[in-house]
Amino acid sequence: MKKKFYVTTPIYYVNNKPHIGHAYTTIAADVLARFYRQKEFDTFFLTGTDEHGANIEAIAKTAGQEPQAFVDGIAESFKQAWKLLDIKPDRFIRTTESRHMAAVQTALKKIYEQGDIYLGEYSGLYCPKCEQFKNAKDLVDGLCPDHKIAPQQMDEASYMFKLSKYSDILLKKIESGELEIFPLERKNEVVSFYRQDGLQDVSFSRKNVSWGIPLPWDKTHTTYVWADAFLNYLTGLDWAGDNTVPDFWPADVHLMSKDILRVHATIWPAMLLSLGLPLPKKLFIHGYFLVDGQKMSKSIGNVIAPAELVARYGADATRYLLLSATPFGNDGDISLEGFDEKYNADLANNLGNLVSRVTNMLEQYCGGKIPDREATTIPPNLEQQVSQAMSELKFESALRLIRDSWSVLNLYIDEHKPWDMAKDPARQGELEISLSLLANSMLVSAGLLEPFLPGTAEKIIGTFAAEKIIKGEALFRRI
Ligand code: MSP
Repeated sequence: MKKKFYVTTPIYYVNNKPHIGHAYTTIAADVLARFYRQKEFDTFFLTGTDEHGANIEAIAKTAGQEPQAFVDGIAESFKQAWKLLDIKPDRFIRTTESRHMAAVQTALKKIYEQGDIYLGEYSGLYCPKCEQFKNAKDLVDGLCPDHKIAPQQMDEASYMFKLSKYSDILLKKIESGELEIFPLERKNEVVSFYRQDGLQDVSFSRKNVSWGIPLPWDKTHTTYVWADAFLNYLTGLDWAGDNTVPDFWPADVHLMSKDILRVHATIWPAMLLSLGLPLPKKLFIHGYFLVDGQKMSKSIGNVIAPAELVARYGADATRYLLLSATPFGNDGDISLEGFDEKYNADLANNLGNLVSRVTNMLEQYCGGKIPDREATTIPPNLEQQVSQAMSELKFESALRLIRDSWSVLNLYIDEHKPWDMAKDPARQGELEISLSLLANSMLVSAGLLEPFLPGTAEKIIGTFAAEKIIKGEALFRRI
């Protein structure tokens, strides 16, 4: 049986159009999916949009639109952005799909009937932008640290989920690594949260929000958006809310940033335990893109749209620049100047020159054919090293290894000077071995590049597979 791999991104709020923070997570998921597909895993990659809740309802109103029409428009702009970036999810799930909504109702009813949801009263602080409850100590100067707004005091009758019941068991599963949280620093934060605060029951319904999924046993309440949203990871696999476990479940990795780690490490696995379903294997938490030291977000007003970068660099180079901006678990300050420099140095010069030099020499000296000679590939062990980095989700390291391989090959050309060999008929064998080494190494490197820069890799591989290899157009135009 084929091994399987299931990767998810968060489903994004449709209060605003996509920015490169959303693109970062989604490109990472696309790269992982392509990588595992290349390794012949049965692979499923899910992304989508989170479309209910008071915040979205209010924004639609401000825009003068019906909520459904409004969310349709934004969901479409997410789909378009992913298309522009050559991101190919197996499914794009929307929480306003009727099948998703029906499954959420079935699942919540089950949780209710077995006594894990009860009618109570919620009283506490709430950030409407995160759609999350806040403890006073989570705030910075009284404000939500991510959205820089003061949370509201909420007091209302609400169906509560017995999260407290799952505190001890979840702490054990997280500590033991049965539910992995990466990087370690993030796991430690979660563990200390469990130890210090433990889990309190959480409100799972709203009386005053109409833009949501009605609770099947009390239609005067709608479902808390996060309870609705989490279930996408199952409904995206066509789960109907019942006891069957979809083939791809459990997820191998849920990708996200730290803004939504706590809910993913508490409410979500508790819901799964309550439903009697396996927990995801891993939560991987990447850093924030910062602009001038601040998290890039629409509420702060410092966003860059994916389309801006694609217009400047093209899809592949945008994917390259975003994933190599910073190690995947770290925050990273980004700037357009930095992107220009890296684009020119790594892609236009290093890779672009290499491909044109190698194809040019094959055309000039070998009649456009890769000489049929036994030759090693350099640098040695590149494939193992990249695979190792990918298994740890070290995208930036994997790309650095691949980029360094281009430098190694360019240096090989500088040092071995095949053009000198070509002048001397006695050195024909040496010339053929050199060019065979270069072409084969190029093909290894292009194969490894494929999950990251699919279009470019395809072009390179196509160039070398041609009947007669010729020096083609430049892969990347210099900026
Ligand atoms: N709808 C919820 C998620 C529900 S999942 C069951 C939500 N949506 S969101 O639109 O706010 O998306 C948050 C996610 O977008 C982050 O966890 C991260 O994956 C990505 N990013 C948003 N801004 C980002 C940066 N500035 N930098 C990096 N990633 C960013 O939360």
